Amino acid sequence: MVRTQDIGPLQDFQYRAFRRWLLATILALQTLPLWAAGAVGEVFAHKHLGPASCASSVCHGANQRAASSPILLNEFSVWQQTDPHAKSWATLGNADAKAIASKLGLGDPQQAQICLDCHVDNPPEGQRGDKFLLADGVGCEACHGGAEKWIASHTEAKRKRADNLAEGMYPTDQPVARAKLCLSCHIGTRDRMITHKIMGAGHPRLSFELDTFTWLNPHYEIDQDYVDRKGEFNGARDWAIGQGVSAVNLLDILTDESKGWTGIFPELVLFDCHACHRPMSGRQWGPRPGTGLGPGVVRLNDANLVMFRHVLGVVDPQAAADLLAGTRALHQATLVSRERTFAAANALKAKVEAQLDKVAAHEFGPETLGQVIGSLVKDAERGEFRDFGSAEQAALAAQSVVVAFETAKQLGDADAAGLRAGVDRVYAAVEKEDAYSMSRFVEALKALRAAAN
Ligand code: HEC
Ligand code: HEC
Ligand code: HEC
Ligand code: HEC
Repeated sequence: MVRTQDIGPLQDFQYRAFRRWLLATILALQTLPLWAAGAVGEVFAHKHLGPASCASSVCHGANQRAASSPILLNEFSVWQQTDPHAKSWATLGNADAKAIASKLGLGDPQQAQICLDCHVDNPPEGQRGDKFLLADGVGCEACHGGAEKWIASHTEAKRKRADNLAEGMYPTDQPVARAKLCLSCHIGTRDRMITHKIMGAGHPRLSFELDTFTWLNPHYEIDQDYVDRKGEFNGARDWAIGQGVSAVNLLDILTDESKGWTGIFPELVLFDCHACHRPMSGRQWGPRPGTGLGPGVVRLNDANLVMFRHVLGVVDPQAAADLLAGTRALHQATLVSRERTFAAANALKAKVEAQLDKVAAHEFGPETLGQVIGSLVKDAERGEFRDFGSAEQAALAAQSVVVAFETAKQLGDADAAGLRAGVDRVYAAVEKEDAYSMSRFVEALKALRAAAN
């Protein structure tokens, strides 16, 4: 054992610095348990004061949008009246939630940590202010970060965005950071896992697409002053980034020994649900070149990897070919061993991560629309959308790029109407998960391509 008096002055100093560091680390770990890393760690880094602290009528609680301010100022009312995040605590009290929790032996879902972690803003006990209530659901600070340090200062006249971020406001405007934040609840991470056990108890399957979900219940508006303050906002870019970050998230869980595996089985939630959940009389099997797997094999859910390949097809075709090879190698490795699977998954994760900055910096111009839909159709023609999961993500992709360029006023009116009808048809083909037919989906995609030309 090292005793202080045994070491010289410099070492003594280092030793005390080390002890201070160790103490600080232990304290930090006590207030921020396992999930101290990543988006969740950042959001919980400071005390959460609760939505009531933002809701005064002169702050974010106006009934109507403000005429003179760059910020709408009615964010609280919009959130409370239209956003499901405001009702997610009530959801945990409904009959469905109770049935799920009871099948899992969890008791009251409004008190079960695993449910609370995703269904409300759930910072550690020590990080809750006086007005904080779990019953407020997924409140402002679940996304914008604990307001302890910035609540008073963020309205000052000369305030810059960077000053707020430095005091713990979460960068929801930046797509990689936003994707990590939303995915921490909408797909789950190592620290907030939605397991097949929870699904088996009746929880709805989770599916997420960053761009679509960002615009379902917005309390913000992108106008010139927004762009001046925070930079350009591009729906196609957000779709692209969301796919990459989702793929990394999947690979990250898969390679966690304690989360990606239970007993003799890998965690089934990481696989294509319909690889198992389909009738035996179907005779539906056919080859999927992107996996290279034969019949009767449980496939990893690679929907986001497939979509990210379409992203790279636009940004860097060589990287897209490389990703296809890496994805196939991962599928093949699952036939060999856990070790080979981990190695392939880690290699692939590094590949995807290495592309994220390039994708974020890419200018997705109007030509992206034709390129993405064209490459989706190519995949469809060679049988790549046999699995429902990828088809669903392809439908979301098509919608996202069409809406992005329509919103940016880069499509003519007639074009936009034709494309919207095409997207509706693609959507209809993935509406009923259990009745999914690949041939109907391929026909719908081809009709969309015709509208895009
Ligand atoms: C703390 C967890 C959490 C975070 C973070 C989170 N969500 Fe959610 N979200 C939920 C839950 C839980 C629901 C379901 C609420 C309900 O129906 O009770 C939901 C519902 C939604 C819905 C409605 C879905 C539907 O089917 O109508 C949208 C859209 C959505 N979230 C978008 C986002 C976006 C975009 C982000 C990131 C900026 C995000 N969420 C971050 C937990 C979260
Ligand atoms: C990894 C995060 C996560 C965990 C853990 C989780 N949920 Fe959810 N749950 C969600 C999200 C996200 C949605 C919304 C899905 C959507 O609409 O896209 C949801 C939806 C639901 C719904 C359907 C809501 C509706 O309005 O249709 C119920 C009920 C539910 N969850 C109950 C539970 C219960 C009970 C638990 C604990 C056993 C739990 N959830 C754990 C993220 C989670
Ligand atoms: C599910 C995540 C989520 C929740 C909950 C949430 N926000 Fe937001 N908020 C966002 C996102 C995403 C944006 C858009 C990106 C950005 O500008 O940061 C945003 C933007 C904003 C903006 C900036 C708009 C602009 O023009 O710059 C304000 C102000 C805001 N939110 C206030 C609130 C308040 C107040 C609440 C609670 C009543 C709240 N938000 C709840 C995700 C969320
Ligand atoms: C490796 C095969 C496999 C995969 C992949 C798989 N499941 Fe399951 N699932 C099962 C088995 C086995 C059961 C248990 C059936 C039983 O208890 O009789 C089950 C049960 C269920 C149940 C309960 C059904 C009931 O009748 O109560 C649901 C819901 C479910 N799974 C959803 C999913 C979802 C969603 C996915 C994809 C995210 C998925 N499963 C992936 C094999 C699988």
